[in-house]
Amino acid sequence: MKITAFLGSPRANGNTDILTERVLNGAREAGLEVESIPLRKLDINPCVGCEKCWQVDGRPCVRKDDMQDLYKKIAESDILLFATPVYWYSCTAGMKAFLDRFVPFNREEGRPRIQGKGVVLVTAYEEEGPTAVEPMLRMFDLSFEYLELQTIGRIIADGVGPKGAVSEKPGVLKQAYELGLGLAEWATVVG
Ligand SMILES: Cc1cc2nc3c(=O)[nH]c(=O)nc-3n(C[C@H](O)[C@H](O)[C@H](O)COP(=O)(O)O)c2cc1C
Repeated sequence: MKITAFLGSPRANGNTDILTERVLNGAREAGLEVESIPLRKLDINPCVGCEKCWQVDGRPCVRKDDMQDLYKKIAESDILLFATPVYWYSCTAGMKAFLDRFVPFNREEGRPRIQGKGVVLVTAYEEEGPTAVEPMLRMFDLSFEYLELQTIGRIIADGVGPKGAVSEKPGVLKQAYELGLGLAEWATVVG
């Protein structure tokens, strides 16, 4: 069983990276294979809506950039972890560009490459309370449902602005680690 984390923050070693690492530590402990991919280091161009991915057999997308490798990473993963801070009540631009490139999974040949995989969402933001994160959660929920992914869990840290501030929040760090540990159980049920 493999979990791949896609890190959507432009800020290396920030709050969402820290939380994701906790989830992955738990997953490692539980015996899962883990991989972490910082989207900030990759060249992921916007989807241009050319719809060639619906016409050309065997090619997920005609754009030649780092997303080609990520299609393979997605296909070989059982669980996908999306990590992004809240940026203007949504996800980061890097995470959105990544998600926009999921269009090949909308076609009949593409859907089996993603259908039924598990999903974990990790987020952090500065404001207190749930209001600031709600629009983004709705966007991800609808997108995951559309793609026929199964949401396993979410780690949500509010009230964390400065880089590394989440390190002072033992409650959510523990929650992240435990979610990772529990992934083996999900893997057993599904696998
Ligand atoms: C461009 C930008 C937009 C942001 N928008 C919001 C926002 O709408 N609501 C909020 O609570 N925090 C917002 N923040 C704060 C970040 O969500 C917060 O600093 C978060 O902890 C960053 O996570 P990271 O360390 O993983 O990058 C914003 C930060 C930036 C740089």
